[in-house]
Amino acid sequence: MFILLMGPPGAGKGTQAAQLVENFKIPHISTGDMFRAAVKEGTELGKQAKACMDAGHLVPDSVTIGIVKERLAKDDCQKGFILDGFPRTIAQAEALDRTLAELDIKLDRVVNITAPGSELVGRMTGRRICKGCGATYHVVFNAPKQNDICDKCGGELYQRDDDQEKTVINRLSVYQVQTQPLIEYYQDKGLYTEINGLQPIKTVLKDIVDSLRGGQV
Ligand code: AP5
Ligand code: MG
Ligand code: ZN
Repeated sequence: MFILLMGPPGAGKGTQAAQLVENFKIPHISTGDMFRAAVKEGTELGKQAKACMDAGHLVPDSVTIGIVKERLAKDDCQKGFILDGFPRTIAQAEALDRTLAELDIKLDRVVNITAPGSELVGRMTGRRICKGCGATYHVVFNAPKQNDICDKCGGELYQRDDDQEKTVINRLSVYQVQTQPLIEYYQDKGLYTEINGLQPIKTVLKDIVDSLRGGQV
């Protein structure tokens, strides 16, 4: 199953991808996670990405397209993947089409998780991530059993640098201008499904799985 997971910042892409990985046994490829890993390693890519991420801007297409192309060519992607947060521009979508054609892969579905901006700000400012295993929590909507401790591995939870309110607002407007046009791009290809991300996490998952197994929700 070749799935593209779209949605504005904070809509629940990472949360749902973590569940879908277990259901479908395919890799989760998140460009945001790849950039955060590069920042942690202190590489040149990491330095360039950090400046963009902290400002709430996109990392340049040339850089992003290159790392995704390299990742999709790996063996573990040939039977399926969940691509989270890529593409985010028409240029990225066109590059993805070319890469998939070279690999002889056809996308099964483009799933867009939607939620209004007013909800998304609260989701991002309340998000907490595990330093150990990367699991995602929310202080209110998906709280760990013990404050600031991961349920899964006991790791310490932290807040992403780009989850400050000012950056979050920039990210939402970048999404509207640069990424929203992709909805029409994938509608035209007949691959697009919209999922109401305002529902509880489990209901959103059910709707996504239904749309993947049997067509539209
Ligand atoms: P990235 O890390 O991809 O961030 P994003 O797209 O802004 O999305 P988020 O990860 O913030 O949200 P999410 O949808 O995964 O939500 P989550 O499941 O965590 O990218 C970061 C940056 O990297 C970008 O700003 C850019 O600079 C750069 N970048 C990445 N890709 C790029 C690309 N292709 N091109 C150029 N630059 C790129 O959930 C959010 C919170 O809500 C959590 O706390 C969760 O517990 C909670 N929650 C989830 N679902 C629900 C629900 N149904 N109800 C209540 N709470 C919920
Ligand atoms: Mg995410
Ligand atoms: Zn953990």
